[in-house]
Amino acid sequence: MAFPVTRLRRLRRTEGLRRLVRETRLELSDLVYPLFVMHGQGVRREIPSMPGQRQYSVDTLVEEAREASALGIGAVLLFGLPARKDALGSEAYDDDGIVQRAVRALKSALPGLVVITDICLCEYTDHGHCGVLRDGEVDNDASLELLARAAVSHARAGADVMAPSDMMDGRVAAIRRALDENGLSHVPSMSYAAKYASAFYGPFREAAESAPQFGDRRGYQMDPANWREALREIEEDLREGADIVMVKPALAYLDVIARARARVDAPLAAYNVSGEYALVKAAAERGWVDGKRITLETLTAIKRAGADIIITYHAKEAAQWLREGE
Ligand code: PBG
Repeated sequence: MAFPVTRLRRLRRTEGLRRLVRETRLELSDLVYPLFVMHGQGVRREIPSMPGQRQYSVDTLVEEAREASALGIGAVLLFGLPARKDALGSEAYDDDGIVQRAVRALKSALPGLVVITDICLCEYTDHGHCGVLRDGEVDNDASLELLARAAVSHARAGADVMAPSDMMDGRVAAIRRALDENGLSHVPSMSYAAKYASAFYGPFREAAESAPQFGDRRGYQMDPANWREALREIEEDLREGADIVMVKPALAYLDVIARARARVDAPLAAYNVSGEYALVKAAAERGWVDGKRITLETLTAIKRAGADIIITYHAKEAAQWLREGE
């Protein structure tokens, strides 16, 4: 039955009606809060390109995580800044490394908080690439062993979920095998399965001090033009034992999220990355957009596209707004 019998505006007339027919609800339990941890004490160093985000030392990290947790955020994703970088990214798999220390502190202060750790070498290598080099190129298979060692070390420290972000082929299987062989078969992995070589990571590289010292990451991260390849990456990671798969970045890749959702039944995560955050903050600071509305609209759109889990620097403010809205 067409207009005038059908009037879709009828259900938009009041907030009560809109609420009743709303298809997508952003929830606190969807959110994962990424945090940067470094050595030292009492550190709360602002990240200029990511207003509101900071680098923390272990003590202040625990305070920040406690605040997030009090707001109802159930999970954090940790990135570490090592004391020293070297060619093999040694601190990534040092049991006394910064992430390992942070995990122990977080799990003892907030045992119920889900602590996810990023597994990658780029923050730890002096060349800034996500794997080890041979003849000036990232050597896939030589990197797998080190990534697997990092995962075992993080899991032994008590991390709840391993999140490999390096984009080496076979890393999910290598990490799964290493965890299983070390009595850690209960530890799940959330793979950055479809991770694109994106300009949206710019601010993160400042925050994590992880920009490649030469070249770029296009030899291992995905070409932004491809979506079928993303589905192959996702299916491959699931075959290798990934428990959760991720699409990253989120906003320019909502089509990839939607297609992944249609194809796989595993939990699907989306990473609302640093550059997406920076753009919103910069425009909101100038008063060009309404920061709160645009943030909630964005996060809702990521969920509507099909993500079950949203990793976002907006987590704390979104949690506050969601609570106020109730
Ligand atoms: C490490 C890693 C990156 C991000 C997450 N893990 C950067 C990169 O690949 O260059 C980006 C996160 C963000 O931009 O918020 N490989």
